[in-house]
Amino acid sequence: MKKYKKDTDIVHGVHQTYITSQDLVPPIHMTSTYHFSNAEHGADLFAGRGSGFIYSRISNPSLELLQDKVALLEGGETAIATASGMSAVASAAMTLAGPGDNFLSCTTIYGGSYALFQKHLPKYNILPRFISPSAATDPAAIENMTDSKTRFLYLETPANPTLDILDIRVWADIARGRKIPLIVDNTFASPYLQRPLELGADIVIHSATKYLNGHGDVVGGIIVADREICTAVREHYFNHFGPVMSPFNAWLISRGIKTLAVRMEKHCDSAMQIAQWLEAHPNVSRVWYPGLTSHPGHETAGRQMEKFGGMIAFEVKGGIKAGRKVMNTVKLCILAVSLGDCESLIQHPASMTHGTYSAEERKKAGISDGLIRLSVGLEDPADIMADLDQAMKQSASE
Ligand SMILES: Cc1ncc(COP(=O)(O)O)c(C=O)c1O
Repeated sequence: MKKYKKDTDIVHGVHQTYITSQDLVPPIHMTSTYHFSNAEHGADLFAGRGSGFIYSRISNPSLELLQDKVALLEGGETAIATASGMSAVASAAMTLAGPGDNFLSCTTIYGGSYALFQKHLPKYNILPRFISPSAATDPAAIENMTDSKTRFLYLETPANPTLDILDIRVWADIARGRKIPLIVDNTFASPYLQRPLELGADIVIHSATKYLNGHGDVVGGIIVADREICTAVREHYFNHFGPVMSPFNAWLISRGIKTLAVRMEKHCDSAMQIAQWLEAHPNVSRVWYPGLTSHPGHETAGRQMEKFGGMIAFEVKGGIKAGRKVMNTVKLCILAVSLGDCESLIQHPASMTHGTYSAEERKKAGISDGLIRLSVGLEDPADIMADLDQAMKQSASE
């Protein structure tokens, strides 16, 4: 399906296939159901024969455009758009594993995914195993955490919120050896920076709420995989649990993706500049950014990502007390969860996105109480630095 270079596919890819009029932009298909041409046509579609739409919980042209587009950008066969990133994670996990099975995830992942794995899947006797960030770079340690009941491997890289980097090829080799799929949550990188399927992963998941949409006005998710896996997700979970994306949200995300290349370039360049500046700042005790040579995953990130992303974590001197003051004193950066938007967003993982972890679990995951997460927006980086600088100075002077 790939026809052009990446930046061109980001703008044009698949859109023209969905245009049946003289419009530049395909319309939003706001319809819940579809008119069958006759009873036989309806019966055929229900039996999986012929082409056409049945009902928008199952499929809709606006969703198909988005699915085809993200599949194209990720280098996957097909995709499923979901109501949220969380429903993408849940749909994949609940399709691949059943009662009595286990799966292996890294300890450091988005707090909502951690809660799903740790608190909810065990109710269905689907049991998570968590590998610590340090062991997750050791193939023997990963292998040792799996057995004949392990149904999939799951990782985030860069991980939320510590920006840990895991070697996708290493995890993919282990998954292949065990004949189980590797799921990679590619939310922090986006397909512009990293394409896990090309590195051996089997399933890519996104919170499309973030960089794919990029404008902070939609919640959505997507699963990219081969047809066999996507059909299984639809049949075993999705069509009947029903976490479907609305056509309007699909249209907005497809529109957002058209500017992914320019947005990611700016997010990455500004984040690199801000991370270097933070690392040299007298009020900062530590910075986590994969683009810094001080980051333990710098080399791996350089191999599997095209740039280092727009997310930074840092700790100010004075720990959580000082950090809280910084978050309360910023004027330009917005104190809010989520990421990948035009606006710079700042938040406190230990009490917000990762409040689903106990204090002990956070310690194991390397999420310190003083860690602040910054999603670098599209503003002038000088203004972001000036804002952080005034906030840190004010916090230090109190
Ligand atoms: C890495 C990652 N995966 C998944 C999710 C869940 O996505 P959503 O909020 O769209 O349900 C998030 C949300 O922040 C995330 O950061």
